[in-house]
Amino acid sequence: MSDELTLLEKAALLSGASVWESREVARLGIRSLTLSDGPHGIRKQVGSSDHLGINGSMPATCFPTAATVANSWDVELAAQVGDALGAEAVNLGVDVVLGPGLNIKRSPLCGRNFEYFSEDPYLSGTMAAGYVRGIQGRGVSACPKHFAANSQELRRMASDSLLDERTLREIYLTAFEIVVREAQPKALMSAYNKVNGTYVHESAHLLQDILRAEWGFDGAVISDWGGSNDAVAAVRAGGTLEMPSPGLDSARQLVAAVEQGRLTEVELDARVAEMRSLVQRIDPSRDRAVDIDAHHALARRVAEASQVLLKNDDATLPLAGGTRVAVIGDFAETPRYQGAGSSLVHPTRLTTALEALAASSLEVVRYAQGFRRTGGADASLVAEALDAAASAEVALVYLGLDETSESEGNDRSHLRLADNQVTLLAALHGVAERVVVVLSAGSVVEMPWLGHADALVHGYLGGQAGAEATVAVLTGAVNPSGRLAETYPVHLKDTSSHGYYPGTGETAEYREGIYVGYRHTETAGTPTLFPFGFGLGYTTFAYADLAVDDAGATFTVENTGAVAGAEVAQLYVGRRAPSGVHRAARELKGFRKVQLAPGEKVTVSIPFDRYTFRHFAVAQAAWQVEAGEFTVSVGSNVADLPLAAVLQVAGDQVADRPTDLPSYDAATVTAVSDEEFSALLGRELGGPVPDGPEPRGPLGVNAPLLAMHGARSPIARLAARVLAALIARSMRRGKPDLNLLFLYNMPFRAMAKMTNGAVTTEMVDSMVTVVNGRFFRGVGGLIAGYVRGRRSTRRLAAELARPARTSRTAR
Ligand code: BGC
Repeated sequence: MSDELTLLEKAALLSGASVWESREVARLGIRSLTLSDGPHGIRKQVGSSDHLGINGSMPATCFPTAATVANSWDVELAAQVGDALGAEAVNLGVDVVLGPGLNIKRSPLCGRNFEYFSEDPYLSGTMAAGYVRGIQGRGVSACPKHFAANSQELRRMASDSLLDERTLREIYLTAFEIVVREAQPKALMSAYNKVNGTYVHESAHLLQDILRAEWGFDGAVISDWGGSNDAVAAVRAGGTLEMPSPGLDSARQLVAAVEQGRLTEVELDARVAEMRSLVQRIDPSRDRAVDIDAHHALARRVAEASQVLLKNDDATLPLAGGTRVAVIGDFAETPRYQGAGSSLVHPTRLTTALEALAASSLEVVRYAQGFRRTGGADASLVAEALDAAASAEVALVYLGLDETSESEGNDRSHLRLADNQVTLLAALHGVAERVVVVLSAGSVVEMPWLGHADALVHGYLGGQAGAEATVAVLTGAVNPSGRLAETYPVHLKDTSSHGYYPGTGETAEYREGIYVGYRHTETAGTPTLFPFGFGLGYTTFAYADLAVDDAGATFTVENTGAVAGAEVAQLYVGRRAPSGVHRAARELKGFRKVQLAPGEKVTVSIPFDRYTFRHFAVAQAAWQVEAGEFTVSVGSNVADLPLAAVLQVAGDQVADRPTDLPSYDAATVTAVSDEEFSALLGRELGGPVPDGPEPRGPLGVNAPLLAMHGARSPIARLAARVLAALIARSMRRGKPDLNLLFLYNMPFRAMAKMTNGAVTTEMVDSMVTVVNGRFFRGVGGLIAGYVRGRRSTRRLAAELARPARTSRTAR
């Protein structure tokens, strides 16, 4: 028996054995890895498995989601969450935690924004690095995701993100660069989408040139679930592990490719080594103990540090002990504390606002539901709420987005709160002495109703102890110190990607370029509802004495109010004109959260680093620092920067900027022409019109099932209509069917990746033949493919089960 892996064993190691497990080679002690979501709590499934949050999972602490924790701007706290996630992963026998998610919030409409940190790469990458350090400190591997430019849920597995190299590097890759360089994750998840025409899992540019060669990543690249395409191309390009379970189909293809000389064994060995090093990290003697109470307390602390006070007229908050409050709104009784989809956690316990209020110093006089969560007018609920409000000093109104409004698999179509909530608030404003709104939502909402609230606390999605944290803010037990990690536009139409998002056809065009979030509003002068970095508290801070040199910035922050509190000092850098490239007016390059007693003053130093002054020079395909003057500004949010200094930076001479990008020069990017976008991309725009109807022609294996609406086969068209109708029905019922949504957006080829060999690549080809109207030919191929697949799988499985001999063949 050889102590070397056979060719087939090597190939088999590069795809999953089941939904959550990699393959083992027992005779060589290579054990199977258990992988589990997720970013804000461990989702370990023991019974029926799925990757959409449908079937149950083991109890685990549900921490606030990434969108929430980002508001804390506290990297150390992020590391503590990571540490707790790592401990629970060990406890549950999980080796790889599939998170954190750090995609850039290109548009506030993305259905998964609640799972991501920020619109800013520096904040996203730094917070994610905290998580990774914490998780990996427990001997578990972290798997940051989804690498990269994965910004929409529509056609999420069948969308091609088209963007210029500079935008890709500066906005969509920098967060990943930071997490890789600063925290060395042992794994990374490749995104479902293509980037500029190539699936990420088989993009040598992303996986080899940038991730491994430039950033020094030495871990395993794991495909998103069903996201791999061509197994051979993936291995060649640096894609390590295909998940979840293509059966032995991919192994067969890899073996054949080596035998036919299309893939070298050296390439295969490189991926196998990455898998083996992931397995070798597992320390069987890891400490499995977990203190669930301590983790609940941590979840609460994190939620406390992440609450954002957005409005507080006439010092309405904090409420004094004994204040008589009417509690109004369905979310007070049934909290919305996490999002839906693969990140869904089964919490160890859950506190509702009503419970937290009952345990507080406030006097709850009444509770009224106020509105039906899933929408629709209900006069009696409103009347009951008004009645309750009239009997109290303060109406505490719990509003939010319901479960259908933000979910994996489904982008939002607007940023509004439900009409019935807005109407209720307007009515309460008329009768209540004071109105305090508590908001539960994992992402941005428009607030034309803000004038109807005296105070507003945004709790985001606060995890299992979120309600306790909000009550602590309401009573002043906690001085709120959360700051928005994303811009709140006045209207959706003010966002830079509005005209292009989501890409409804094969491509998603990132025409707004680098102008995402505040980079757009601050440069174009677009008014915002709340700027990036904004948040109030119960005290005030003064900034002074800025000194800037080549190494960094130093300044003081003083608590000028009467109570202790924390401030997030933010440092932004902008180029002083002129510049050889178009630029955002200012970019976040550093931050520090400081806790100060009343009257206390601290000196804060923020060092510059490799990210501070650089831009990506496309012609040179390299990072450059443009010589000349930069403005370094410091303050409490992107629109309130009381300190500024000019720094002369030594650097590269940058050629004059091209004159054919006037929209980008002016940051007026909401209606960029084809010609100008094409000039930015540096190539012709090709392919189908993004908003055009699905072409009625032959479909390929990479077309999503929704493309069957335009298929030649009437049966396929009917199937698409039935699928669409079932999804619409589940939406109307207020419970989106994530399984159907996944199928609708899934390409045909994914069937061969997720059915553990029941459907092979050859069978998928034949199914597509049927869809394209060649019924008998397709069905014939399907049957033949099935028989061939079964036979081959039996042979390969038998070979794998035998102790290794010298056999190298697998056909
Ligand atoms: C999601 C990933 C998740 C995976 C496994 C996919 O659908 O995009 O974020 O980790 O499923 O559940």
